Amino acid sequence: MLRLAATAAKLGVTEPALEAALGGPMTEIRTARLLLRRARLEDAEPLHDVFGDTRAMRYWSTPPHAALEQTRRFVEEMVEAPEEISDDFVIELDGRPVGKAGCWRLPEVGYILHPDLWGRGLAREALEAVVERMFAVRGQHALTADVDPRNERSLTLLLRLGFHETHRAARTWRVGDEWCDSVYLRLDRS
Ligand SMILES: CC(C)(COP(=O)(O)OP(=O)(O)OC[C@H]1O[C@@H](n2cnc3c(N)ncnc32)[C@H](O)[C@@H]1OP(=O)(O)O)[C@@H](O)C(=O)NCCC(=O)NCCS
Repeated sequence: MLRLAATAAKLGVTEPALEAALGGPMTEIRTARLLLRRARLEDAEPLHDVFGDTRAMRYWSTPPHAALEQTRRFVEEMVEAPEEISDDFVIELDGRPVGKAGCWRLPEVGYILHPDLWGRGLAREALEAVVERMFAVRGQHALTADVDPRNERSLTLLLRLGFHETHRAARTWRVGDEWCDSVYLRLDRS
């Protein structure tokens, strides 16, 4: 949260150091409609509704999670991810985990939202907050994205946020039985 960053700056310590001094990670971002917060193990069940959904996973880097156990492992990895290389958030709407947005590995952004919530500008709201944080708090000079060229919703979202295409590559991901291509995008800090 930006207030935490400001306090850390005033005290002359890093944000993770201040968090640790306060008793653990409490990084969260509030937007008009959403709460972005660190993952918790109990998020696995509600997030399985997203990661198990064929619409949401059509252009993800893995097939839909067939079993809850896969989502559990995914959430565990989010919980355990080291702050130095990762800055990722669960998206909560009205107290319910409905997706994720952030950088699983800095500086690449990644996001997913429950398909029932598409078309309301919620992903954009989450990503705008993430972008601001990565530049203002995490000191990133540029953010990147790797998108399947067929993933129109994702490309539209990134272009609206100011990302631009840098290059393309073929057969970058094998997802199940299918080879997929990549469009690479980048947003420089202004
Ligand atoms: C990519 C993804 C997050 C985009 O979700 P989204 O809801 O389309 O994105 P946005 O939040 O930008 O919403 C844009 C839509 O909301 C509408 N909208 C409504 N209110 C809005 C508001 N207040 N602000 C902005 N847009 C608004 C826009 O007009 C647009 O409508 P459209 O879908 O008819 O064009 C979603 O499709 C997803 O989860 N995909 C699966 C996972 C995935 O592929 N991730 C990316 C891997 S690279």
